[in-house]
Parts: sequence; C-alpha cells; structure tokens
Amino acid sequence: MLEHLVTRAAKTTPILPLSAKSLAAWIKTQAPFLQAWIKSAGFKAKPGSFVLLPDAAGRAALILAGCEDGVDRWSLASLPAALPAGIYRLEEEDLSPDQASAHAFAWAMGCYRFARYRADAKEFATLVWPKNADKAGVERAASAIALGRDLINTPAEDMGPEHLAKAVEKVGAAHKAKVTSIVGDALLKQNYPTIHAVGRGAATTGIRAPRLIDLTWKGTGGEKGPLLTLVGKGVCFDTGGLDLKPRGGMMMMKKDMGGAATVLALAQMIMEANLPLRLRLMIPAVENSVSGNAIRPLDVVKTRKGITVEINDTDAEGRLILCDALAEADTQKPDLLIDMATLTGAARVALGPDLPVLFANDDDLADSLLRHGRNEGDPFWRLPLWKPYRSMLDSKVADIANCEPGSFGGAITAALYLAEFVSPTTKWLHVDTYGWTSGKGAGRPDGGEPLGLRGLFAFIADWVKHSGKSPVLPKRPAPRPSPVSRAAAKRPLPRSRPRR
Ligand code: BES
Ligand code: MN
Ligand code: ZN
Repeated sequence: MLEHLVTRAAKTTPILPLSAKSLAAWIKTQAPFLQAWIKSAGFKAKPGSFVLLPDAAGRAALILAGCEDGVDRWSLASLPAALPAGIYRLEEEDLSPDQASAHAFAWAMGCYRFARYRADAKEFATLVWPKNADKAGVERAASAIALGRDLINTPAEDMGPEHLAKAVEKVGAAHKAKVTSIVGDALLKQNYPTIHAVGRGAATTGIRAPRLIDLTWKGTGGEKGPLLTLVGKGVCFDTGGLDLKPRGGMMMMKKDMGGAATVLALAQMIMEANLPLRLRLMIPAVENSVSGNAIRPLDVVKTRKGITVEINDTDAEGRLILCDALAEADTQKPDLLIDMATLTGAARVALGPDLPVLFANDDDLADSLLRHGRNEGDPFWRLPLWKPYRSMLDSKVADIANCEPGSFGGAITAALYLAEFVSPTTKWLHVDTYGWTSGKGAGRPDGGEPLGLRGLFAFIADWVKHSGKSPVLPKRPAPRPSPVSRAAAKRPLPRSRPRR
C-alpha cells in the first residue's frame, strides 16, 4: 500500500483537490471549453468524485478531485483504484502540511486490500509524496492500520492464540522489544486462572491453547520515561462457549481479538516513533470454545487477584481474560493503563458501530483523549463508571458475578467488573470498541478496523510530552442551564396521558 506513494517520478499527472466552494471560484478562471467539459461531466466536487481534464491533444492534463472543506482524510482514497494506472502528483500551492498529510494518508488507505485469500490482485495508481506531507507520520499510521486490519480480517483458523503471539513477536523483533508468552497449563502454575478457564475449552496445549503474551520495550531515553501499559482482549474466536451464541451473533466473532489488534498496532506506532516511554503490552489470547473441558455457567473461578467470580454467562469471557491481565499490570503501578476490547454488544447498542466507548477514572486524561480523537477524526465517546450499578454484579456464592442477570447498562457493568481489578490510584482508560467498519466507502473497506488507533497515538504522544502527568486543560465554565431549558423549567409540566 505504501509502495503506491513514491518520492519522485519523471512524468506525472497533476491532481487538484477542490471542494464545491473552491470549484466555484476556480472554474471562473478557466477557458469556456473546460468550463463546458466540467459541466457536461456533471462534476460538482462531491467528495470522492473526480473528473479528467484533457489538453488540446486529448491527453489527461489535470484531474479535479472532489473534497471536503478543511482537513479531509478520506476523499482522495477513491482515486488509487479509480484512476487509470500511472503516477500522479498534487497541485499543492494551497495545501497546508496537515492537508497534504491527510491526502497522502487517504491515498495510502485507498490502496489497502485484504488480499490474503484472493488471487485477483488490484492495480492502484501511484502518487508522488506531497512535499508538505509528514511522510513518517503518514507511513506510521497507514502501516499500523493495515496491520490491525489484517489481523482482524484473518479468520480464526489462521489467527489463533499462537498466530497472535507470532504477530506480537514479529512487531517486537522489529523494535528490539522483549516478548514472552505463558502458555496452556503454565497459566495455572503462574496464577492466571481466568485466562486458563476461558481458553481451556479450546485446548490446553498446542497452537490453540490459551496464553498471555507480554511485550516490554523502552525507547532511547525511555528508561526514565513513564510506564505505559496496554492490554488488549485477544479472543481469537468467540462462540459464546456453552452459552453458545446464535448464528447471527457468531457471524463476526473472528474480530473478537480487535482490542488486541488495536493495541498491538498502537504499540508498533509508539515504538516506530520512538516515544520516550517504557511500554508494556499484554494480550491474553484465547478461543472461547465449546467442549467437555469448557468452563460452565455457575462455575466459580478464583482470579489472580484473589477475587472469586461466578460465571453467570460463559459468553461474558472478555472481562474474564482481561481481569487477570489487568491485575498483573496494576501491580507494576504503571503511570497509565489502557485496555481495549470488543467487550460488549451493549456498547454498540448505546453508540453504534463508529464510536468506541471510553471509560476513565481520570477526567483530565479522558478529556485529553476525547479532544485528540476529535482532532484526528478518530473519535471516542465517554460513558460513566457508574458505581451504583456495581450491585448488578452481586453474586450469591462468589465475590462477584461476571455479568448482570438483566440487560441494562451492559457496557457500564462490564467496565465496573474490570474496575475491580485496577487500583483506584492507577490512571486507567478502558475502551470498548467494535473493531470493525462497514459502509464507509473508499479507504475504509468493510472489515476489521483498529478504531481509535490514531486518536490514541496522538493522545499518548501528547501525554508523554507532559512526562506522563495529566495534561493541564483550560478549566471549562460550570454548565449553566441554557435559556431554552430555563424557559422550559417555568412552563407547567404536561399532564401525563394514560398509557394505551
Ligand atoms: N465479544 C462479545 C461482545 C460483542 C458482541 C462485541 C457483538 C461486538 C459485537 C462479548 O464477548 C460478549 O459476548 N458479550 C456479551 C456479554 C453478555 C453475555 C453479558 C454481550 O454483549 O452480549
Ligand atoms: Mn462473548
Ligand atoms: Zn467476546
């Protein structure tokens, strides 16, 4: 995909990105022949559309490409597959460095295909790197996104717990990180009972056996840097276990290692950028399977932390494998602990597929991540760690149940379950993500997507500049009721109508 961006070329066709507004101004300066051509082609600078303008000899002289106003990360993504093969460059007099980077990013994304199982290789057009673009930044993001997508898109047969460990080892080796795994029954010996309990139904030895993958790294100058620990849910396939999912619910569950894929991609970006921090990446990797050796509903497991958990539903397995990893991560007192997981359907009911849910025990950090996510066009939305719902996890036989009996606030109760395994003094962010995208168009083909990756990287790069302390944000004025709601408050309440 990055091979379709080159540093120089002898013969190139220029592309002029235009929004509807800038097209209106630009077209007035053109010859009547071209004005008529653009009109008859029906080109209105709709984002993602393009028109080819000929010279007098009928050769392609200029491509007009429809874009959004402002920084546009996606519109140019339609071009590499749609334009005739060849080498192109941007007309960039008016492009800010941010916009030049965004267009290069769009181009790279437009060249992504999950081609592992397909013979029909796609031809893409090539772009010369815009000279104002942040080449390293675009390459870092694009290759991490491709890594995340490839991992998620690969079906469980070829992306089991050991495959996932191999993927971590490969990324680690490229950056001289240390990678270890605790596999199968060794998880019991080393006190990771919940990872073992969930994964043992698939196997206790061999490539399908559960494991805890653990990567550590420090950048140059990182010895003194803050410690960042990333934890990702690595359920390579989620059948639901004995509380088996129906067909529709299982349909996408190869993506249940989307949290692991996203934190691994994030770790790659951090190491590639050589951020001055110490990094630990922990991935509990399992398959949640059905077998005579599978964990049952009503079983009780004593977790690493010593808290006993009653299994109300074997399909609430993500929080089980995460809780042992989080408990271990927490003992090291990291300066920041972030976990990502395709944890609940409830998070998707609440916010739909696009918005990873953010939970945080620190408001400044949460605000900072929300802001960076927005800036990067890679947004999060926050939900509360609402303590009163903790009682929904009360068990009659154990310290806690792995899920609530009802179906209210499922993303929150899952987060509250995890919170039991993190000290209140550890700054902790929990992200409940979909790890998938569909219907987004060019550059974002239907399939695995490490949502939140770019937002998180920008946030961490900023966090490390503040040497791991919460960034100081301008104080926001306390919210006051708006004039509308004040007027509404004076209005008499409508009388309740009898229910039909
Ligand atoms: N991996 C699923 C959550 C999921 C489902 C994420 C669909 C994205 C899309 C998770 O392991 C799960 O099954 N959660 C259950 C929890 C329930 C049993 C308390 C859920 O959300 O239904
Ligand atoms: Mn499940
Ligand atoms: Zn799951």
